[in-house]
Amino acid sequence: MVTMVVNGVRREVQAPADTPLLYVLRNDLELSGPQFGCGLAQCGACSVLLDGKEIRSCITILSAAAGKEVTTLEGLPARWAKQKGLSQADAEKTLHPVQQAWIEEQTPLCGFCQNGMMIKATELLEQTANPSVAEIKAAFTTSGPSAHLCRCGSYTAIIEAVQFAATVMAKGGK
Ligand code: FES
Ligand code: FES
Repeated sequence: MVTMVVNGVRREVQAPADTPLLYVLRNDLELSGPQFGCGLAQCGACSVLLDGKEIRSCITILSAAAGKEVTTLEGLPARWAKQKGLSQADAEKTLHPVQQAWIEEQTPLCGFCQNGMMIKATELLEQTANPSVAEIKAAFTTSGPSAHLCRCGSYTAIIEAVQFAATVMAKGGK
């Protein structure tokens, strides 16, 4: 059995320790944010945050998450609410600024890659409050095991959404 904190809640998982974390999140914990794209750490669709760092859950085995904090797309609102010290009532009606920006900018096309894009944007903006275009491009291309791929070509919209999210975060989420 492996114990980890997923989206703020302690979870005990009975799956074998070498099960891909992606399978555990989707099949055992019924979290459908992370997607199975390539299964080879080559696309970014399966990304989650592990102790705040973006990882590819398709190649990360369950035991690597033992005792750690996993945040999926579903957990971004609560992550933001905790960071801002929001009340329970406010937290329940709050989206993470990255999610707000993705909606405002109508970023997704087919949407399949966008889980990974929002997870990567969250990691970036937690480290760099006001990233330049070059820093945004670097985050999505050279900072991890591979570039985050979008077969629909939403890259320009993603850059604009990250900049929008940075503005929202600078204003405290409004
Ligand atoms: S499914 Fe994990 S990187 Fe593509
Ligand atoms: S929006 Fe379709 S793959 Fe990115």
